[in-house]
Amino acid sequence: MPRRRTSKSATARRDQDLVDPEWVAKLSDRSLEEARGAVEEAQKDTPFVRTIDLAHQQAGRDFYAQIRAPFELYALVRLLRPKHVVEAGVSSGVSSAYFLKALNQNHFGTLHSIDLPTRQKGATFREKEDSPVALPPGKSSGWAVPPHLRAGWDLRIGPSQELLPSLVSELDQVDLFLHDSLHTFEHATFEFTTVDPKMPSHGVLLADNTAWLGGALDRFAASKGVRALYRRGMDLGGFRKP
Ligand SMILES: C[S@@+](CC[C@H](N)C(=O)[O-])C[C@H]1O[C@@H](n2cnc3c(N)ncnc32)[C@H](O)[C@@H]1O
Repeated sequence: MPRRRTSKSATARRDQDLVDPEWVAKLSDRSLEEARGAVEEAQKDTPFVRTIDLAHQQAGRDFYAQIRAPFELYALVRLLRPKHVVEAGVSSGVSSAYFLKALNQNHFGTLHSIDLPTRQKGATFREKEDSPVALPPGKSSGWAVPPHLRAGWDLRIGPSQELLPSLVSELDQVDLFLHDSLHTFEHATFEFTTVDPKMPSHGVLLADNTAWLGGALDRFAASKGVRALYRRGMDLGGFRKP
């Protein structure tokens, strides 16, 4: 019998479903039970999960390079109750959607996002030429974020090299930061050192695709006297600032 081909989106979906509440518990310094509850709150909202999936399908994408831990991001915001969440790297907006959903549920806090969009070259997506985060024609950064979550979202378009320092200077604190933009050692280190002065003790710093960062997260965590913790031992990592 011929084997059914597993699509990339199905692989991403399975990875998304294999959640790591222990990682959430450690980063938020809450019990495993509380972390499980917060992760499940996001998982159980299947209409929301479907809405985000559908937006991607309608834009003609079988695969989109998005965060694979949206439920954990949601849970962290629910448990930490941050005043300011900052993320660099939006693309279609999966991480943004889950941050916004959790802030909305908290009735507290603001998401500030920065994105320098990558655009699809032609009318149709070509795997060999286009970046997996390229915006489909006519779409702008964060296009998959449901409209009801957009009010109050501080979304800034441009390079984080230029926009992050000014954004951070406007904020009294950065309680949660996610690096998911240009994945190089230099750039990630630039973003970490830019947000750090405004990150209070117990703030949480996260980075995706750490395998491409040349140890930037581990090195930055060590400079704060802690070790980075990795979701399911893979490449989304973070630490809680002492
Ligand atoms: C991996 S995607 C972000 C995925 C998103 N966090 C999600 O969960 O859907 C990375 C995004 O960062 C953008 N980017 C690349 N370099 C950047 C830079 N220097 N400043 C800001 N954004 C950048 C890319 O164009 C892309 O939109």
